[in-house]
Amino acid sequence: MDGLARLEYRGYDSAGIAVLSDGRLQTEKRAGKLANLRAALDHNAPAADGIGIGHTRWATHGPPTDVNAHPHVDHDNRVAVIHNGIIENFAALRLELEERGCKFTSETDTEVTAHLLAAELHDRGDNDLAAALRSVCRRLEGAFTLVAMFAEEPDLVVAARRNSPLVVGRGEGENFLASDVAAFIAHTRDAVELGQDQVVELRADSVTITDYDGNPAEVREYHVDWDASAAEKGGYEYFMLKEIVEQPRAVADTLLGRVGVDGTLTLDEMRLAPSELRDVEKIVIIAAGTSFHAGMIAKYAIEHWCRVPCEVEVASEFRYRDPILNRQTLVIAISQSGESMDTLMAVRYAREQRARVLAICNVNGSTIPRESDGVLYTHAGPEVGVAATKTFLTQLVACYLVGLYLAQVRTVKFGDEINAVIAQLANMPEQVENVLATIDPVRQLARSLSDASTVLFLGRHVGYPVALEGALKLKELAYMHAEAFAAGELKHGPIALIEDGLPVVVVVPSREGRGVLHDKIVSNIQEIRARGARTIVIAEEGDTAVHPFADELIEIPAVPTLLQPIISTIPLQVFACELALAKGNDVDQPRNLAKSVTVE
Ligand code: G6P
Repeated sequence: MDGLARLEYRGYDSAGIAVLSDGRLQTEKRAGKLANLRAALDHNAPAADGIGIGHTRWATHGPPTDVNAHPHVDHDNRVAVIHNGIIENFAALRLELEERGCKFTSETDTEVTAHLLAAELHDRGDNDLAAALRSVCRRLEGAFTLVAMFAEEPDLVVAARRNSPLVVGRGEGENFLASDVAAFIAHTRDAVELGQDQVVELRADSVTITDYDGNPAEVREYHVDWDASAAEKGGYEYFMLKEIVEQPRAVADTLLGRVGVDGTLTLDEMRLAPSELRDVEKIVIIAAGTSFHAGMIAKYAIEHWCRVPCEVEVASEFRYRDPILNRQTLVIAISQSGESMDTLMAVRYAREQRARVLAICNVNGSTIPRESDGVLYTHAGPEVGVAATKTFLTQLVACYLVGLYLAQVRTVKFGDEINAVIAQLANMPEQVENVLATIDPVRQLARSLSDASTVLFLGRHVGYPVALEGALKLKELAYMHAEAFAAGELKHGPIALIEDGLPVVVVVPSREGRGVLHDKIVSNIQEIRARGARTIVIAEEGDTAVHPFADELIEIPAVPTLLQPIISTIPLQVFACELALAKGNDVDQPRNLAKSVTVE
């Protein structure tokens, strides 16, 4: 149950367990969060002296009810199965099984696998659960991690994966399986990552991994560099509150060891040689959700510093539009979890087209970096809150590092200019700290707006993706209608939405350089205010030009425009979080969402 609690961020529509005790499978499952299952188990705990499996669900096929919760069992209650992913050919398999006399109890795609396993075991007649699972996997289409137990095998758990994640935790006289090391980190930090299309047989004292044909498989063992305390709330009511406060450390850790005193950058795990980077003719960034916003910001920085054309696209759209890729294309896949199915599929597509792929990722051992040519890890530590905060800031840092490194390698700008930016980047942890030190008024402001029905966000240049991120946070956490626009687009339609008292958050660019962007947005603020908007202005300290037009002013330190997102995002995170708390929402587990979406 503690392991499940650590995985609940992946889905919290229902939860269930199955344990095998005295040759009997006992299953308990409940709709809703894990607390409901805990309460049920308090009344009726099965004897848990043997092996067990458990699951938290993010519903795909069938609503989040008790019946649709995992584990699923065959009709003789001999086989129990849990599953992440989607079995795409489940309808045909279900029909076939029904013709064979199987009675289905749920609406899930998963249940077919329990019946298929039971049928396979019956047909084989040898009780070889791993062999049966291999045969079943060969028949499945789609994405899955499957974990199964069989009443005749009281010491064995078997599991298989295709596309969805699965890691093994190696303990002493005990072994574990989970989607993420967080589930077993309290017991062991020694992990084994399973590759694509592999099956594992897990006993207390042995771990055997094969491919779907039963041949021994190659695996990578690694040691997790954080412990259970990093994934605890540490006195905060919500993980999100803790993770916002951890941002200076997270940003510093992502820079650590990568920036030399003389401005040289060391990005070892990138595994892309300078000569390859010099040959790059186009960069394509693919990502989803908050990571996509990091990618949008990266485009501004990379094009400015490196003079290489850079496109950015949501991963779910990318591979379906026949994009133009070749050996001279560098694809940068940004994914906190390293498991988002849309991004993973886009990575595979890009590699098929012979593009080089660099992953920017937070989770060591996850699928996307494993399948990429190179990786740059963000060192944000585990992020449990479903809405990304510290991982977003560290993604920005990683993107800037890649951009600056490329600029150094390609020498299109003077070294001094790039070194100056590197020095400013190295100073960002302190600036993040400064923003957090003065954030309290944002909390009060958010609470005063808890009755608003809509909030609009405006930004220009890198402030535009920041505005998009602010709106996304508000939707995710406070379930409010929120939209972001490029401020220049305002006059082409969105300005019609402005009415008396409508809160509009404006991210004002720094006054650096000629300040052209800055002056244009000051005009935009006046335009909306003249039409009744309540302006909430995020601007750098001492920017007196905005003062007359700001109903609410949130000041942030003056930093270079391209780096400003690292700090201008923070008030928007706090704003959304506080507004959601004022509404009584669970900010760690917002409704309908999951942190890592491993289905397409
Ligand atoms: C989900 C999460 C978002 C996240 C997105 C991409 O939608 O709720 O917070 O930004 O997935 O996740 P990734 O792990 O690929 O960055």
